[in-house]
Amino acid sequence: MSDHSKIRRTTVPQIRARKGKEPIVSLTSYHAHTAAIVDEHADFILVGDSLGMVMHGMESTVGVPLDLMIMHGKAVVRGTQRALIVVDMPFGTYEESPSVAFRNSARIMKDTQCGAVKLEGGKRMAETIRFLTERGIPVMAHIGLTPQSSHVMGGFKTQGRNEDSWPEHEEDARAVSEAGAFALVLEGMVEPLAAKITRQVDIPTIGIGASAECDGQILVLEDMLGLNPTPPKFVRVYGNLGGQIEAAVKAYSDDVKSRHFPTDKETYS
Ligand code: KIV
Repeated sequence: MSDHSKIRRTTVPQIRARKGKEPIVSLTSYHAHTAAIVDEHADFILVGDSLGMVMHGMESTVGVPLDLMIMHGKAVVRGTQRALIVVDMPFGTYEESPSVAFRNSARIMKDTQCGAVKLEGGKRMAETIRFLTERGIPVMAHIGLTPQSSHVMGGFKTQGRNEDSWPEHEEDARAVSEAGAFALVLEGMVEPLAAKITRQVDIPTIGIGASAECDGQILVLEDMLGLNPTPPKFVRVYGNLGGQIEAAVKAYSDDVKSRHFPTDKETYS
């Protein structure tokens, strides 16, 4: 029997209902221990495909396999109790057709027990978003700078600098919202465009490099903790984990070299 006294996780409708209300707090996380810390403060945690670059040293997110997302997704679900867990669909697992997207997103949901998936793309993904949501898969959409398309976009460029491009982004936002997405990540977008889209759609927008005008914010955890020596310019760095790890490793190395370790036999018994 299920235990109804357990802490309840934030649900998709609860995130959806935060439109225009208290800002939504979210971060990425890829592993159980950090996720347990983030869980205390985040409304949702994204197991982003940025893990390919952050955890595995890949040059882009394009090479991230589905199995890797599932492995990290399981770890984050195990490490958390409160936050909604959203897992990214990696490149090549959803673009081909709605049925391919369903097969792969259902696998993510069943294997990881996460609460929703995220996929990149606006208008072109609307049919797929509708297909998935009608079949029980909640979808967070992601438009603006979409890293999986960086080869087509010619790199990681802020979107909307030229006002002529705004209608296309606005159409993308409307299309995914009307198709049933419950929230929308706006990445790398100029502030007035992000603000305009946030006013236009009735689902929460989650900004990353898209200004404080969005309904919530997300950052890559390692970037904001100071573990990435070259974080994107828009990231406010809240910690110095890189420096702390370096100092701790150096102190450990000094202890090993000077044999400065507990010698009491009890310690090792
Ligand atoms: O993969 C990721 O970390 C993301 C965020 C940048 C939104 O998609």
